[in-house]
Amino acid sequence: MKITSARFLRSAVDPSGFPEDDLPEIAFLGRSNVGKSSLINSLLGTKGLARTSSTPGRTQAINYFLINDRFYFVDLPGYGYAKVPEAIRKQWGPLVENYLANRRSLVLCISIVDSRHKPTAQDKQLVTWLKDNDLAYALVATKADKLSNNQLKTTLSESRSVLGVDEIIPYSSLTRAGVERVWRTIDASLTGNKQV
Ligand code: GTP
Ligand code: MG
Repeated sequence: MKITSARFLRSAVDPSGFPEDDLPEIAFLGRSNVGKSSLINSLLGTKGLARTSSTPGRTQAINYFLINDRFYFVDLPGYGYAKVPEAIRKQWGPLVENYLANRRSLVLCISIVDSRHKPTAQDKQLVTWLKDNDLAYALVATKADKLSNNQLKTTLSESRSVLGVDEIIPYSSLTRAGVERVWRTIDASLTGNKQV
């Protein structure tokens, strides 16, 4: 896909902040620090776009980026970050769950794991939840540049079996390895083909 424009729209802290124009949405989910914002930036070929959202106070919000005036990338708050105060952590569940369960313009959830590590209990819970709720999803394993090809093969195969999925796309925001595969998946979801 050719990116002609990409801009930060807004941070939503509750559903009243979600756009009302019914444009399709691609959501990015994963634990804190897994590389969500880096994935968004590297897919778009921009450097600092998704960072605008990581200023303090915004990190627990849902960040909207408008792409080509045609669809949204939605950067969801990361889960599992121990330093987040309990009160904020309690908001995470309801805000994200409400978004995932009720957002009708959501066409694809990109669930992100770290290629170096076994999926966490929360990664597993999320994928199970996506399956149970019949949401279209795709798995992306970031930081693939930190592993050798052999290591990557092993960890991806382990992760596929732990998560019970057929495909995990290895990705590196550093080298942009995997960028075409991720875009193909996004394109397919935007053209109404929910197969991933
Ligand atoms: P939160 O917004 O805090 O939830 O984090 P995030 O998931 O958006 O992660 P972010 O993109 O900020 O990346 C976290 C750290 O991992 C940064 O230091 C990135 O430079 C690094 N990182 C992300 N993706 C990659 C990658 O593919 N390869 C390497 N080597 N480092 C990466
Ligand atoms: Mg981020």
